[in-house]
Amino acid sequence: MIYLDHAATSWPKPRAVGEEIARWLTELTANAGRSGHQASLASARLVFQTRERLAELLGVAHSEDLIFTHGATEGLNLVLKGLLTPGDRVLVSPLEHNAVMRPLATLVRERHITLQTLPADPWGRIDLEATRRVVRSGPYALAVVAHSSNVSGAVQDLAGLHDALNHTPLLVDAAQTAGVLPISIESAGIDFLACSVHKGLLGPSGLGLCYLSPRYDLLPLVEGGTGSHSESFEQPGFRPDRYESGTLNLHGIAGTCGALQDLTQRGLLGEHQQHLCQLLIDGLATVPGLRLHSPADGTALCVSLNLAEMPPESLALRLEREFGILCRPGLHCAPAAHQHLGTFPAGTVRLSPGWGNTIQDMETAIRAIHALATNG
Ligand SMILES: Cc1ncc(COP(=O)(O)O)c(C=O)c1O
Repeated sequence: MIYLDHAATSWPKPRAVGEEIARWLTELTANAGRSGHQASLASARLVFQTRERLAELLGVAHSEDLIFTHGATEGLNLVLKGLLTPGDRVLVSPLEHNAVMRPLATLVRERHITLQTLPADPWGRIDLEATRRVVRSGPYALAVVAHSSNVSGAVQDLAGLHDALNHTPLLVDAAQTAGVLPISIESAGIDFLACSVHKGLLGPSGLGLCYLSPRYDLLPLVEGGTGSHSESFEQPGFRPDRYESGTLNLHGIAGTCGALQDLTQRGLLGEHQQHLCQLLIDGLATVPGLRLHSPADGTALCVSLNLAEMPPESLALRLEREFGILCRPGLHCAPAAHQHLGTFPAGTVRLSPGWGNTIQDMETAIRAIHALATNG
């Protein structure tokens, strides 16, 4: 079996992830920040240490500006719904996932915000010069950009974008790049960033992160018990409690702690992933009837394609049944990206290699697609 669906979630997870989760579930553990006994304090330490490590990895000076969420989706909702006010104008890249487009659609309806799509090349990479011109027609309350598209695999130039946006607040969807490419949130001038830990960070599902620059005071998405200021009916004003109501996903945090031990030893593997994608792109270039929807310059983090008139679902099914290759067909929850790439509504087949894959895996995938294209 060859797993080429890392853009959906990474697999396998490092051994330390399962070990830390099992340890959390089987040893004496308690709720964090809720009681004063040793088991509760140990949990609070785990939360603090994991948050500190993540802050270090992502270039955040004060770890309380990193909020634990359920996933990238919740973090994106938190920023969009907590920040935007009636009449705001918002810039979006043409490649946004529905985790961005659906909350924005609600805000268009309910708060009468307006959206402007950023100019981009055929793969969805933002045209920085044209963006400067758009920004001059502002002001815009926010720009929302996926660091890398989960469809075309295109990677945005965040430093160039920050410059072109000329102080327009920037929300980065780092679902596909956290733990994969180096990101230094504060030195890159990013105001908000959301990601999950189950993709490139190699952690378990059900946990995410949201960076909120201390320069903004957003409304929380959820309010409730925090273990702090319990005498008050008002949500605490300080971070992270202001944005973390209810019991945290503590076994998810334990697993993430294990993933980070592994990631720290191994380093980020974005270059490995880009190399594998480029091998696919080069090896598939001569397949008859193949259309590639990813940049071929060594930067793509996943590869989207169509083969002649074969529906993406049929191609993915045949790759699994006949060659043991697991990949994802369809719209990948990002119809806007497919509209930009010209692959809406059928979508594409996405091959997304990751840390566990080898050059031989790519060769097998290339041979399989060649065989399906030539033998039918
Ligand atoms: C670019 C992008 N944004 C957001 C998400 C949502 O992530 P999650 O489902 O982990 O919340 C995904 C997941 O595939 C994604 O690829």
